[in-house]
Formats: sequence, structure tokens, C-alpha cells
Amino acid sequence: MTGLGEIARARGISFGAAMLTHLMQRDPAYEAAFAAEAAVIVSEWEGKFAALQPEEGKFDTSLLDAQLRWAQQRGRTLRGHALVWHESLPAWAERALTEGRDRALGIMTAHFDRVLSHTRSQIRDWDVVNEPIATAGDQLRDTPWLRALGPEYIDIALKMARERDPTLRIVLNEYGFEEDVPEALLKRQQLLALLRGLLERKVPLDALGIQGHLHMSRPFNAASFAGFLAEVRSLGLQVLITELDIRETWDAPQEIAARDALVAERTYAFVSTALEGGARTVLSWGLSDKYSWLANTPAVAMGQGRVHRGLPLDDNWQRKPMWHALARAFRGG
Ligand code: G3I
Repeated sequence: MTGLGEIARARGISFGAAMLTHLMQRDPAYEAAFAAEAAVIVSEWEGKFAALQPEEGKFDTSLLDAQLRWAQQRGRTLRGHALVWHESLPAWAERALTEGRDRALGIMTAHFDRVLSHTRSQIRDWDVVNEPIATAGDQLRDTPWLRALGPEYIDIALKMARERDPTLRIVLNEYGFEEDVPEALLKRQQLLALLRGLLERKVPLDALGIQGHLHMSRPFNAASFAGFLAEVRSLGLQVLITELDIRETWDAPQEIAARDALVAERTYAFVSTALEGGARTVLSWGLSDKYSWLANTPAVAMGQGRVHRGLPLDDNWQRKPMWHALARAFRGG
């Protein structure tokens, strides 16, 4: 059966998904789905600070290397996620980032030195800075990095990545601006201002990662989103979809077919607009509802009886309307 990765590649698009090493190694159905569907993978956990440097100076790339081996053995690629983020920071780093500017610079430098030298010829695309803007969208997110280094922590990180890997695609990855709600539209303006400032200061940046964690409870306006993408592209930046899933919850099983159809419509509208806007890489945040973070994150799972079906394959690895919507978008409609 032709998978999404193959369908997308026929039109010069890279499709893939976020992978967890422990599931790839433990669940044959999980690994088979990635082999069938994903031309590119991204580490759901294994490229984060806490996974790579759980203790200061003690780097552990074993989980990341397992994904690199998986990808290389199958002729796939692995994109990197995420070097500088406010989550998944180990306790030692949280503490050290309160010990002054020089200490913070030292931590970032040591992490980038080790990780980017290790992945240099293997990972060509990193989310160097992840989620720098506050959820409300009216200022930079208050993170340990911001508190330690000021707003220029973003400039410092992007420059540090370029210095260590001149041909790397440097990505700034963000969420919460995709849909047609006031806080998202405000976040778009804040994001554009941030991107313009970085580029005016000649800070190296190649692409905006659009996470794409969508909510069926929010409207999506394709024309408005297309206009935003055009503004980003006019800055000379590439765009890519990095973490697509579509949050839809309901109680009654008999609603599932109708809701899945609506999720598929939203998937097609969002992805086809992104492709028309220049995106050539699209990743979903996992492949099957069985292992989606939506179902396994208490704050999101919204208690018992609620079903999340935000990914292309269902709990039994069967292709859902969302899978077919992605295939249709990759085929050009
Ligand atoms: O902590 C264990 C670690 O000891 C063990 O070695 C490892 C084995 O894989 O698992 C770790 O468990 C959890 C990990 O997911 C793998 O399942 C971590 O405790 C847990 O915090 C981590 O959650 C991830 C979360 O980011 C924080 O990193 C979710 O899977 C992942 O879906 C979520 O993804 C984020 C993106 O990175 C950024 N955008 C939002 C998105 C959803 O929150």
C-alpha cells in the first residue's frame, strides 16, 4: 500500500511524523506504520535537553542515535527538535540558568557544541528555538533562557547554531497562531515582529516551523492564514508544518464518523493552504491516536470518556479520513 511519505514525495513534499524510540523498539505495529508512512521523522522526546544531557556534562545520545540508525537504514531523514525550549529542561539546568548570564551562556555553548558536532552530518534541520512567544501572544514567553540572557537569547542561540553547522536549516518553531481567534491573530503580529527583528539584525534563520496543533473548536480561515504565510515568505523564510494534530473530543461513539469527516476537512484546508504557501515539509505529531500526546497528557485528555482522534491512523493503525485528506492535499486536490 502506498504510504503518505511516498505520495508526498511524488510532488516534492516530505511527509513524516514524530517518533518515540521506546515505542519504535517495543511495538512492531508502531515501527511498521513509520516504515510505511514516514519519509522524515522528528524526535518526540529524544532531541530535547533533558533527554540529551540529563546531568551536566553527561550527554546521552543513545535514544537519538537509535532514531538516526532507523532512518539511515531505511533511507529516511531525521529532523532535530528542540535545542532551546522552556520545557524538558533537567533540574540541574533549571537551577544553573538562575546563576547569571555567563553560566547560562556556558550551558548553551556546551550543549550546542556537543549536540551539533554529534549530529552535524546526520541532522540537516533543527528546531533551534522552540515556542519563544507567550501563549497570549503579546510578548516573549517568560522562560529560564529569557530571564538569564534577556530577549537576545534567541539571537544568541540562532547564531550559535549557524557557527557550529553552516549548512544547517535553522528553524524557529512556534504554535498558537494558525487559527482565526483573537489570541492567534495577535500572536501572528508578535511573531512577524520577532522574525523581522531577527532578520534586520542579520541573525541567521532559515525557516518558521508551524506546529499545527489545531483545535476543531476554533475556526480556521484559509485566506487569512495564506496571507500570513505570504508575509513570512516575503521575509525570505521557508515555512514547514512540524507537529500537526487536530484536537477533537466527544463523548458518544456514534459521533465519531461525522467528527472524523470534519477533522479531515480541516486537515485538507490547513495542509493545502500551507502547501500553496510554500511548505514542502509536513509532519504530524505521531501517526496513531493510540499513542498521541493528546490522549496521554492528563491536562489535555480531559478525563474519562473523552476520545482524541487527532492523527492520521486510529488506535488499530487503520487509515482514517484524516489520512485520506493528507493524501489528497499531497496529490494537489
Ligand atoms: O522521562 C522519561 C525518560 O526518563 C525516558 O527515558 C523517556 C523514554 O522515551 O521517556 C520520558 O518520558 C516522557 C517522554 O515524553 C517520552 O514519552 C517525558 O517524561 C514527558 O515529559 C515527554 O513528554 C513530551 C513533551 O513534549 C515534553 O517533552 C511529549 O511526549 C511530547 O508529545 C510533547 O511534544 C511537544 C513538542 O515537543 C513541542 N510542541 C508541543 C508538543 C506537545 O506538548
